[in-house]
Amino acid sequence: MYRIAVIPGDGTGPEVVREGLKVLSAISASAGFDLEFTTYDLGGERFMRTGEILPDGILAEFRQFNAIYLGAIGHPDVKPGILEKGLLLRLRFELDQYVNLRPVKLFPGVETPIKDKGPDDIDFVIIRENTEGLYAGAGGTLRRGTIDEVAIQDSINTRKGVERCLRYAFMYTRKRNKRKKLTLCAKTNVLTYASDLWERAFHELGEKEFPDIARDYVHVDAAVMWMVKNPEWFDVIVTDNMFGDIITDLGAMIQGGMGIAAGGNINPDGVSMFEPIGGSTPKYTGLNVVNPLAAIGAAALMLEAFGEDDAASRIEGAVQTVCARHLKSLAAGKMGHSTTDVGDLVVKYL
Ligand code: IPM
Ligand code: MN
Repeated sequence: MYRIAVIPGDGTGPEVVREGLKVLSAISASAGFDLEFTTYDLGGERFMRTGEILPDGILAEFRQFNAIYLGAIGHPDVKPGILEKGLLLRLRFELDQYVNLRPVKLFPGVETPIKDKGPDDIDFVIIRENTEGLYAGAGGTLRRGTIDEVAIQDSINTRKGVERCLRYAFMYTRKRNKRKKLTLCAKTNVLTYASDLWERAFHELGEKEFPDIARDYVHVDAAVMWMVKNPEWFDVIVTDNMFGDIITDLGAMIQGGMGIAAGGNINPDGVSMFEPIGGSTPKYTGLNVVNPLAAIGAAALMLEAFGEDDAASRIEGAVQTVCARHLKSLAAGKMGHSTTDVGDLVVKYL
């Protein structure tokens, strides 16, 4: 039995989470495990009603679950940054979810904007460090608002923090067992302190503990070029928080868009959180037109993290079938089916 905290969140979050829960309930009935869901009302509406973003008591409760399943955070009437920092980033940091796992996989029948590339070419995983780097919030400002203003934003990279992310990435590459190649994405030609630490840790750890995994390196600017030109070169990419944020949006686009892109915020020894990586898409809220496949894919990632690999791959298989046989497009309003229909179709093919 797995206990899951559910945060439907803002905008279209609740609509896609409903479909994810539908699929999870259907699979648990036949897969030999039970799931218990506890829903938490957090997000923009609650913030505007009560001023609360993430009460400490709720954070303490989250520590007791097997995982968190999140829809979307972001509200048009709340200043950008408040909910992101107060809820999403705070959960990642407080629960020490130090890996952000984002598979980039093009399913058969799904359109990619990259000419002449297909499912055999676009199948890799990005592992983004999720608790340090520029996101740590270090820095400050002086004489703000004057012509002498100074702004400093520091990237924090600790040997421990980098190494645990790298170790996860090496182990993931080994378990994935495809090309057994791990590519470090950094900027060693300019970031001669931060990327240097990553590069040394990468090779030292790889040499000592993962001789079976091939090591490769790309500068981040070249990485975005190769992701478009030769995506088949990649197996697993590991990178820091900011670079990972940027390149995973490109990854989402080449796998068919935000309608299909899922991710996991993982603490291998604690409570992880799974989410569709697109936002709350306020303009589609309540219309039953957004694609729930990203949320359903996030549910599959959650089961995989529990070690329920069979159930996870049954969900992925059903999602692939629905893409190949039923959806006209993965984009909101263009699928040829409603949000709830797509959830029903996935259940049908489980
Ligand atoms: C993501 C998002 C977040 C991030 C934002 C909403 C803070 O873009 O999950 O990639 O920058 O990490
Ligand atoms: Mn992002």
